[in-house]
Amino acid sequence: MARSLNIALIGQKFMGRAHSNAWLKVARFFQPPVTPVMYTVAAREAAGLKTFARRWGWQNCTTDWRSAALDPEVHLVDVGTPNHVHAEQAIAALEAGKHVACEKPLAGTLADARAMRDAARAARRSRTFVWYNYRRCPAVALAHRLVREGRLGRIFHVRACYLQSWAGPAVPLLWRFQKKFAGSGAHGDLNAHIVDMARFITGQEITEVCGAVAETFIKQRAEVSAAARGGIAGGTSGGRGQGRVDVDDAVLFLTRFAGGAVGSFEATRFATGNQNNNTIEVNGEKGALRFAFEDMNLLWFYDAQQPPREAGWRRIMCTSGGNHPYADAWWPDAHVIGYEHGFVNMAADILNVIGGRKPVVPLPDFADAYQTQRVLEAALLSARHRSAVKLSEVK
Ligand SMILES: NC(=O)c1ccc[n+]([C@@H]2O[C@H](COP(=O)([O-])OP(=O)(O)OC[C@H]3O[C@@H](n4cnc5c(N)ncnc54)[C@H](O)[C@@H]3O)[C@@H](O)[C@H]2O)c1
Repeated sequence: MARSLNIALIGQKFMGRAHSNAWLKVARFFQPPVTPVMYTVAAREAAGLKTFARRWGWQNCTTDWRSAALDPEVHLVDVGTPNHVHAEQAIAALEAGKHVACEKPLAGTLADARAMRDAARAARRSRTFVWYNYRRCPAVALAHRLVREGRLGRIFHVRACYLQSWAGPAVPLLWRFQKKFAGSGAHGDLNAHIVDMARFITGQEITEVCGAVAETFIKQRAEVSAAARGGIAGGTSGGRGQGRVDVDDAVLFLTRFAGGAVGSFEATRFATGNQNNNTIEVNGEKGALRFAFEDMNLLWFYDAQQPPREAGWRRIMCTSGGNHPYADAWWPDAHVIGYEHGFVNMAADILNVIGGRKPVVPLPDFADAYQTQRVLEAALLSARHRSAVKLSEVK
């Protein structure tokens, strides 16, 4: 019989739902070595929390995250709160000997991220995980494997962008627009994902940010009541007036990689016509790969080893059991999967690691996510000082 793992989730809105769904489904679709138990959910919204807990199958609920996270019955704390509380919650859980799965970015600031990395290092019995869920799209996992198997050869270019367009002037001052809660704007929200994907797919670290530009297009927004501050574009203006936006709406930057490749990254909430366009292309001497989240079941592969007469972009539907990562767990071939499956796949790999098995593809822990955070910090410094920043200068 598989051992069980009691989980305390903190946060019950966007990611709270995505994670609840993952913990609820994982043992139905996978055979994890450890069985997750949805033990407690904690969040600030007293109204609605009981209904949430009942709907998703959490055994207990509380507005006191500390009592949930430190409960001796709990084995894993799942942090799905805004960025400014990740450090406090994750470190408290690590000090209490729990495993921690934290949402991305690791933190709002580099100092918080560093403290989390150090706490994870010190907590020798605990495992840490960061919900960079796009790694667990089968197409992205396959891209990682193809690069590792040498199918692209030497890598020359990484071209990544994460384009959204929901943040028009009518959207009020959510936590995502405030530095004290979010740390940064589109940068920590969206560039974080594509930096993680680029590092994951290429297996290479970024060594330098060569230049960057950051812009805030809408500088004032209607204030919201604390209760209405959540959600991506949700919440209504219920506050007293206008408040200042002190994070970026868009950040673009150029990089060098350890293996000699060059990269470009672009994140924005103002790319009109794009909704969740998370795209990455990698060009190598033997071939190229392209992934776009809005067609997430597809990986495009250009095999430059083919004779020119037949060479061309190949459209791979990553749904074939036995051939594609995670596909075995889901549906017959070509019965496509969606956003939520990435979280279920990640929950399966968290349970694999805790149960002593290998994940399907590597999982980011706090030390790994700290490397992504250093790149994000270097880009902000580069934009602020209008100069190149070597990663060796960002500790
Ligand atoms: N992996 C992804 O694709 C993805 C997508 C969206 C958000 N995120 C990340 O997930 C995290 C949460 O984002 P969200 O969109 O779910 O936010 P949200 O605003 O929808 O929900 C935040 C939740 O945190 C709770 N909360 C806030 N402060 C708290 C505190 N001090 N103590 C206890 N609970 C508190 C709120 O009660 C709420 O339930 C952020 O770090 C964000 O960057 C990741």
